[in-house]
Amino acid sequence: MNVKHTTKDIEKYKGDMIVYFVHQQNKKVPACDNKFVQDTIKLAFKAGDFSGKEGEILLFYPSGKEKLPAKRVLVVGLGKAEKSSTNNGGAIADVWRENYRKAGGKVSETALKTKALKILVVVPEPFILEKQETVECLTEGVMLGAYQFKKYKKAKDEDDPQRAIEEIQLFTEKSEKIILQGLDKGRIAALSACAARDMANEPGNVWTPARFAEHGRKLAKTYNLNCKVLSKADMQRLKMGGILGVNSGSAQPPKMVILEYKTSASNPTLLLIGKGLTFDSGGISLKPPKGMEEMKFDMCGGAAVLGAMQAVGEEKPKGVNIIAIVPATENLPGPSALKPGDIITIYGGKTVEVLNTDAEGRLILADALAYGIKQFKPKAVVDLATLTGAVVIGLGHHRTGLLSNNDKLAQQIMAAGDRSGEPLWRLPLGPEYSEQIKSSIADIKNIGNRSAGTITAAAFLQEFVGETAWAHLDIAGTAYNFTEKSYVPNKAPSGIGVRTLLELIRSWE
Ligand code: BES
Ligand code: MN
Ligand code: ZN
Repeated sequence: MNVKHTTKDIEKYKGDMIVYFVHQQNKKVPACDNKFVQDTIKLAFKAGDFSGKEGEILLFYPSGKEKLPAKRVLVVGLGKAEKSSTNNGGAIADVWRENYRKAGGKVSETALKTKALKILVVVPEPFILEKQETVECLTEGVMLGAYQFKKYKKAKDEDDPQRAIEEIQLFTEKSEKIILQGLDKGRIAALSACAARDMANEPGNVWTPARFAEHGRKLAKTYNLNCKVLSKADMQRLKMGGILGVNSGSAQPPKMVILEYKTSASNPTLLLIGKGLTFDSGGISLKPPKGMEEMKFDMCGGAAVLGAMQAVGEEKPKGVNIIAIVPATENLPGPSALKPGDIITIYGGKTVEVLNTDAEGRLILADALAYGIKQFKPKAVVDLATLTGAVVIGLGHHRTGLLSNNDKLAQQIMAAGDRSGEPLWRLPLGPEYSEQIKSSIADIKNIGNRSAGTITAAAFLQEFVGETAWAHLDIAGTAYNFTEKSYVPNKAPSGIGVRTLLELIRSWE
């Protein structure tokens, strides 16, 4: 799908759908630039069907008097313009960014339900936001909302409601540079997140550790980055007992994908690490069968990190070096699989008593964190992982868990998440929690007790970051099964983390 800017006469647009946005008024008919469209809005308003509330839509077929030759007219509600409440103290601008994203998502949702393939969107007068941001967020919303993953479905009959949208044009009266810049920002963010969704949607038998490596190499080639892939033999030489241990039940060799975007040695380095567990059966501590298929999504952290590197390759930010590491393996039972009670040695020498082989994410991340920090001496490290079921209990599907040893970094990530519509919530760390992972036989053990599962998992990771500023994003609740967002397909991977990382990088000092 293609998103373009246009200043061409609306009254000459002959595509499938033209879209207007309107604000809800106090007990009044929402105002629309096109008087004739407003006449129809008035009828719908009187009937009690449409008031311009956020998320409300009105779809109709112009009769001719509107002077709109397009086949359909869609009016999308933006809610009240004076709306000022924010969620938990976030900035009001962030609320509007999300509002425009959701409105964009509604456009795609409606287009996919009807047969609209070519669409003209009349960009609304920005409210609170700059015009550039309005265009950015609308673009992001329509592109994320238009996402589909159909490659394993044979083409259906002509009435297949799930056709792909072909083209969306954004209309403004004047052509300005900031509009094109906003469009580009939105497009890059959306395409990168959709790339992460594509990886996540692939089944475990297709998206193997080798595919992660292949994708890393492809990104390196496309964007002129450096790519190095550590093989199983490399891991053995480096004594990465975490990923090797988790991999020992699998027939697929593990990979550690390392992508480097370098500007200058005098610039700070940001290290991104993503859990690339291509299928998590739990290993010998086998998971119950119900819903186990969802564990193909256990690589969403790795997908987010590679998605972010795609955006980095597109935007080539200045003033920062960025390294991405994806430790990738399956977690399966087998004759040589890790067993409860086994003791392994992580890169750098720390020993771990493995009490539950299903707490495997932290083992592969430990190797990646210890190795990445030693090798690249980053100013800050951010890891993303579908790490604990406990975070779903605590925060549900609407906020990512954030744990950090550095208030400034945590604050930056919180702000980036709010700005990108991927909100987070911080949980504490501390010696009381670290106490829970002390082992009587090794340096640490890989599980605590039942309480504070998300925190003890992070406390485990903390053992491998030393004094480096570090933040851990537990995306187990937000990476898929996201609910009620027009631009995030239901029960499907969301691409979470990509846009937060991109926002963090765009605002990096
Ligand atoms: N990949 C899972 C976490 C997960 C659970 C992700 C649900 C998405 C949805 C992780 O490897 C895991 O199995 N964690 C265990 C840890 C436990 C054994 C301490 C969990 O959360 O149950
Ligand atoms: Mn697991
Ligand atoms: Zn896992």
